[in-house]
Amino acid sequence: MLLDRVKPLDVILEAAERKSLKRTLGAFQLMLFGIGCIIGTGIFVLTSAGAQKAGPGLMLAFAIAGAICIFAALCYAEISAMIPVAGSAYTYSYASISEFFAWTVGWALILEYAVAASAVSVGWSGYFSGTILNEFFGIQLPAWLSAGPLVMGGAPGGLINLPALVIALLVTGLLMLGTSESALVNSILVAIKVTALTAFIALTLTSPEFSTDKFNPFLPAGVFGGLGTGLGAVGAAATIFFAYVGFDAVSTAAEETKNPQRNVPIGLIGSLLFCTVFYILVAAGAIGTIGGQPIMGPNGIPFPAGSEELARQCAMPEHAAALVCSNEALAHVLRQIGWSSVGNMLGIAAFLALPSVILVLIFAQTRIFFVMSRDGLLPERLSTVHPRWHTPHIVTAMTGIIVAVAAAFFPVGMLADYANAGTLYAFFMVALALLVLRKKEPSRQRHFRLPGAWIVAPLAMAGCVFLYVNLPWQAVLVLPAWGLIGIAIYFVYGRSRSHLGRGTVEVVDDVAGEETMVPIHPPHEG
Ligand code: ALA
Repeated sequence: MLLDRVKPLDVILEAAERKSLKRTLGAFQLMLFGIGCIIGTGIFVLTSAGAQKAGPGLMLAFAIAGAICIFAALCYAEISAMIPVAGSAYTYSYASISEFFAWTVGWALILEYAVAASAVSVGWSGYFSGTILNEFFGIQLPAWLSAGPLVMGGAPGGLINLPALVIALLVTGLLMLGTSESALVNSILVAIKVTALTAFIALTLTSPEFSTDKFNPFLPAGVFGGLGTGLGAVGAAATIFFAYVGFDAVSTAAEETKNPQRNVPIGLIGSLLFCTVFYILVAAGAIGTIGGQPIMGPNGIPFPAGSEELARQCAMPEHAAALVCSNEALAHVLRQIGWSSVGNMLGIAAFLALPSVILVLIFAQTRIFFVMSRDGLLPERLSTVHPRWHTPHIVTAMTGIIVAVAAAFFPVGMLADYANAGTLYAFFMVALALLVLRKKEPSRQRHFRLPGAWIVAPLAMAGCVFLYVNLPWQAVLVLPAWGLIGIAIYFVYGRSRSHLGRGTVEVVDDVAGEETMVPIHPPHEG
């Protein structure tokens, strides 16, 4: 029952064949696309939370998370080049494992995309309030309008994060009207982000404030901070894994890549390696100049990032300058070392570039909902396409409202951890789907065939489990709790309405594009 209903690969490939996009992308364009989706709130904001968990060991954390993402990315590369249709990990699981598991993946992807979009919105809000409102206009947004309530892990005096709510709704509005990011806009934003980070690295590493003493102790909370605590270098790795999320969007461009066997891995690994090196250097610059030691509790263990206790500590004047307390970590570092104007420019870079990450994430979420609804697993009304805008406006509005509400009330670190839990599950399942397809469809054409798949995929799976168990316990529990709700919905709603269960296979490729519907006899039942 859990393993029945596998979408026939032939029908999917037939649909993909008909779409048959021109192969125009080279490795460099793929890298640009990747870097555009990857660099965001993770490095610009979560550096603070990472330092609170690991201290200078944050650099090690970036290396660990980056390595695991490279293994996962290689799995995405093979499978996305093989099954080039919409739906990402959800579709891959549907075509290899089963409808039930595909549903759980689709359900987990809500955490990856929608919750991650909320996290990036909150990250953007920190730069908007700190740099744009405060530094340029001298306006101090009242505490109750700039963060969620403390009971939910926000800031003292916080009630609602208005800028985060507004940006999420604005981006949603643009998506409903059919805005998509052009390659040109993406390249400009990548240039802005990379320039900002390069300036940060150059100014911090050459600053007279820079001292290797600041890296001592290197691992104040150890490598393993203890399961469930989210502390130590691996705890920080589990959180700043968020900084790499988004590369899976690149893999969806595999079908448009020239010479995919060469360019897809170069594009994916290239963008991830590039980000890993940049992230480690940024962490080194931030910690080497203003220090990055965690604020310790009375028992010598760091206060949990995003906790009420830490928020209270950060409100004290002696911690006002601490890296771990800043909402706009990188701009804050530059201001502290006498480069206020460059710090403000970096703030503007984040202000301009982060909305495009929100856009990519909400877009990805709406397309997953769209495909799930066209499969009959979610109400079909959701996939209504607007006659003039040609966008799935209902599902987009619904997604945007969820994203905006979560952004308004929850802190960035918590949202990122929850998003990571869902993402790690999806990555795990993609690696598993790759192995299942190697067994079931050994001779099927693969535009990119991953060398050493039987080593790389299990390593990716083990890496995902490793990071997952090192998340804070709340985030570890979110996945099964969320999963149970999803499973209940599947059995009460989706299973009986599934098109595949009723005997039709539908392959949707694009909102406005064609779809393939093929009756299969006798209907699959289970
Ligand atoms: N990797 C993306 C970010 O850090 C999601 O914002």
